[in-house]
Amino acid sequence: MAENGSTELNGQRVVVMGGSSGVGEATAALFAADGAEVTITGRDQERLDQAAKRIGGNITAYRMDGADQTDIDGFFARSGPVDHLVLALSGAAGSGPFAQLDLADLATGFNAKFWPYVRILQAALPLLRKDGSVTMVSAASAHSAIPETAGLAAINGALESMVPPLAAELAPLRVNAVSPGVIDTQWWDRVPAERRKALFDGLAAITPVGRVGRPEEVARAIRMLAGNGFITGVVLDCTGGATLPMGR
Ligand SMILES: NC(=O)c1ccc[n+]([C@@H]2O[C@H](COP(=O)([O-])OP(=O)(O)OC[C@H]3O[C@@H](n4cnc5c(N)ncnc54)[C@H](OP(=O)(O)O)[C@@H]3O)[C@@H](O)[C@H]2O)c1
Repeated sequence: MAENGSTELNGQRVVVMGGSSGVGEATAALFAADGAEVTITGRDQERLDQAAKRIGGNITAYRMDGADQTDIDGFFARSGPVDHLVLALSGAAGSGPFAQLDLADLATGFNAKFWPYVRILQAALPLLRKDGSVTMVSAASAHSAIPETAGLAAINGALESMVPPLAAELAPLRVNAVSPGVIDTQWWDRVPAERRKALFDGLAAITPVGRVGRPEEVARAIRMLAGNGFITGVVLDCTGGATLPMGR
């Protein structure tokens, strides 16, 4: 780390879990542009190879399922030392009206995001540089009051509440999270285009910056947290102001 607290990313080994699209891909592209050696992971080799091609630079694409302990162990058995770890893989299960919330679906949501983040971080610890960084991508639903998102809030809230104690316990390793609002990525492909547009337009109208976010904007927040040696234990909103308590 430089004396001014900034972390030079040129030549740093960065792993972006969930790097074949959306926020993870944008983050990998930003780190690669800074001269980092970046490894992206995902479950589909073809999608990974396409992302690596789009990004260019010093990129390795590695197929692994973040929900599978054997895959995780296999990855870290081969990865070598890691300076910065970004956890950006996603799951969408666990949302919907609480009265009808299917508990199996909620458990699927935890299995797709909460447990993978925990398992991956545990497995990464022996390989992470002592004063490197971990940045989790959570979700602003964790601390919002949006009907039908109690399940997603629980999954992401569980992750966000781990950030401060982990930052204290694992120091000098820095542990932070970026908590995005609605970001236009493939995550939303499951919503039919017309409904998605109406949803985005509606959200834009009540968001101070007047639009939904772009993956590159979340990537820049991640890059800032990873690159600033004096920030740890922080959950940083990247929501265009959508989470601000507004009123007169
Ligand atoms: N987009 C939003 O509006 C929004 C809002 C708040 C928070 N977030 C959070 O931001 C993060 C990134 O989401 P995104 O919008 O960028 O989604 P995305 O475009 O769907 O990207 C998700 C990435 O994770 C990979 N992935 C998913 N499950 C995986 C698994 N089990 N193992 C390994 N890789 C896996 C995907 O590749 P494969 O599917 O090929 O494995 C893909 O590379 C997620 O944690 C999401 O919850 C997103």
